[in-house]
Amino acid sequence: MSKSVTASQDAATPIVIVGHVDHGKSTLIGRLLHDTDNLQDGKVAQIIESSKKRGLKIEWSFLLDSLQIERDQGVTVDSTRIPFLLNGREFVIVDAPGHRQFLRNMITGAADAEAAVLVVDAAEGAREQTRRHAMLLHLIGIRHVIVLLNKVDLLDFDQEQVRQVEQSVSELLAKLDLEAALFVPASARDGDNIAARSERMPWYDGPTLTEALAQVPSPASRANLPLRLPVQDVYRFNDKRYVAGRIERGRVRVGDTVIIGTQKTPARIASIESWHTAPQLSAIAGQSVAVTLEPDVIPDRGDLLHLPDAAPVEASRIRTRLFWLRQEPLRVGESFKLRLATAEHAVTVTSIESVLNLDDLTEQPGEEVPAEGFAEITLSASENVQFDPFAPGTADGRGVLVDRQQRIVGGAPLIGPAEIAVGEKVIHPSASTVTVQDRERQKGQRGTVFWLTGLSGAGKSTLARGAEAALFSAGLDVTVLDGDTLRTGLCKDLGFSEADRTENVRRAAEVARILRDAGQIVLVALISPLQSDRALARQIVGDGFEEIFVDADLSICEKRDPKGLYAAARSGKISGFTGIDAPYEAPQSPALHLKTDAGSADSAVKTLASFVKDTAKLTGAARASS
Ligand code: ADX
Repeated sequence: MSKSVTASQDAATPIVIVGHVDHGKSTLIGRLLHDTDNLQDGKVAQIIESSKKRGLKIEWSFLLDSLQIERDQGVTVDSTRIPFLLNGREFVIVDAPGHRQFLRNMITGAADAEAAVLVVDAAEGAREQTRRHAMLLHLIGIRHVIVLLNKVDLLDFDQEQVRQVEQSVSELLAKLDLEAALFVPASARDGDNIAARSERMPWYDGPTLTEALAQVPSPASRANLPLRLPVQDVYRFNDKRYVAGRIERGRVRVGDTVIIGTQKTPARIASIESWHTAPQLSAIAGQSVAVTLEPDVIPDRGDLLHLPDAAPVEASRIRTRLFWLRQEPLRVGESFKLRLATAEHAVTVTSIESVLNLDDLTEQPGEEVPAEGFAEITLSASENVQFDPFAPGTADGRGVLVDRQQRIVGGAPLIGPAEIAVGEKVIHPSASTVTVQDRERQKGQRGTVFWLTGLSGAGKSTLARGAEAALFSAGLDVTVLDGDTLRTGLCKDLGFSEADRTENVRRAAEVARILRDAGQIVLVALISPLQSDRALARQIVGDGFEEIFVDADLSICEKRDPKGLYAAARSGKISGFTGIDAPYEAPQSPALHLKTDAGSADSAVKTLASFVKDTAKLTGAARASS
């Protein structure tokens, strides 16, 4: 067997299967695995058994449930990637059970899928999720789409009705710039046109589903593209240094000169080792290899190895398509890590070009990307990023955005370098190499912002200052940002109009975020009367934001009137005073609710200080690693 044959078999072809709920995706997967002889012994018996128990015909979707149970029990590593063999060729079905996992899987697991099977209930036609899934297929660049028109038995295998659904699905796909490679009319439940040709549709002369899958290009076809070998790891063994990674595309040969990363150091491939095989002379896309280099340069994880005459794009400002996964909107200024193959780069969203309207599929300018929305944005990195613009059928440019907690918050296919528009404000935020964890360990605390909101005279400053002193004595690093104090400096140009208060909140939140990022405990004492402004603050700060309601009745605040301002407001000397002739919107569900109209200030200070301590303390794991 020649090496290239071995290599192409190494690289399984990932296929993503999607479809509206109840259109028959699970049944299809079960049926496909069965009809292609890919079920482990006993599995079928199990299914038949549980189907019988329920008095049902064989329920193929139970198979997936049983795979799911195995996964829960830790038996199967990942049931969302189900391997199967088709005439000796390896495929992997990428499946995601729930809606949220689905999005995540599409963006991570399915990012390298060669093709998709879109399951559409022929009797129902395309539905909302069909459209959303098709949109995702388009956005992540899967162009080879096989539409499985399922349940044609419900249409009595009627050619004309099948033709009509085919046409309407075609029209939907065309709107999304997708074209189905094939429409396969089928009944997954009965096995018609899955692995065997249906006798009930003599009018259909196209391929069955398995024949259609056999036509999907294999990852090995990426072998003819210019080499990209992202460095996964560098390690020493027996006095040699090995550079390990999976070849994304192209091929490497012993003797090739490759260029390494943004440092652009050339080196010669001295040898290629592959798992389970003897050293070899060349390796191709899809294979995981370890190469030795001459001279013995040391690449970093994430560096791309490429041939000198086919360098990737290099840019620090990148036009990016975004599938936003977070439940809250995204605004300009937020920072993330951009994961790209094995590389990670600190990036900031510096502009939002357009936001996609999912209803009519038009792109419109927007200030923010709504929860789970799609958009085109610009990411700015503090260093040059090497990438290949996102291209269908390859892993090129498939970035993923990750937040401080290492959660995936978005899929980010990179389109290309961002052009500088005339008059554009071009900025390059620089990123720290000191990590949040480094700072936490050094300070022995978690940087957190405690946002105290309440009426004037409710006691925000008193409590913040009291807690500040107590926490400082306890060895914590704490800062207070107090409204009146900020208004003597940073915010001295601001008054009390709604717009000015919003700006006041924004500035305080930005400063709080910087201090939090520096590992500090920040107590903000600001009336911040509007819910929407506090939501903005929460968004600016991101993780580690706790809202605290310092609550005293207006009548009590007015009686206290430490600055004589309520009296002045009542007599009309000042206007727009919160609680008198300007609104105060109390928090709906603060992390801590301090009633200051009963009980002593001292005890409120203690409650606040201990809440802060508990929230900002390091968990056992974080402490142990210090
Ligand atoms: S906020 O509404 O913009 O959050 P901030 O906390 O910074 O207010 O400032 C409130 C303080 O400004 C009050 O404690 C009070 O001393 C003073 N102040 C002066 N005029 C007003 C006003 N019209 N409304 C509220 N506070 C005022």
